[in-house]
Amino acid sequence: MTTTILGLDKKKSEKLGNDLNTLLANFQVYYQNLRGLHWNIKGKNFFELHVKFEELYTDAQEKVDVIAERVLTLDGQPMHTFEEYVKNSSVAVAKNISNDEEAVHVIISSLASLIKIERELLNFSDEAEDEGTNSMMSDFISEQEKTIWMMNAWLG
Ligand SMILES: [Fe+2]
Repeated sequence: MTTTILGLDKKKSEKLGNDLNTLLANFQVYYQNLRGLHWNIKGKNFFELHVKFEELYTDAQEKVDVIAERVLTLDGQPMHTFEEYVKNSSVAVAKNISNDEEAVHVIISSLASLIKIERELLNFSDEAEDEGTNSMMSDFISEQEKTIWMMNAWLG
């Protein structure tokens, strides 16, 4: 088995880099969806949701950077064009949403898609003994699960 400088199996490390790139693409679409929701939200919950969506996109922006830098750490090349992001994302592009409940549903379903990808990544990073990616996925999943609970609580 050929290993990388980090001591990981080279082939597994390459697959982890590719899978993290897929997560990156999905996160970028999620991030841009949140910007759209932040801008377009209307109605009696405007002030509350406008701020909440900003909090979420700021967090997503930080995670985007953490994912891209993990790709680089694993000796991969992070995707960086909108073209690639849209092509590789299973998180759907949300457009012109101004209704509060609809916006929250978009967030819940986007997070559910992200968690699915992260869980698959977690299984593989575990097998590859990649503790760095493993702990990152584990933190992302628990934070996003909590956000889903809060979003569902808001919906009532
Ligand atoms: Fe703003």
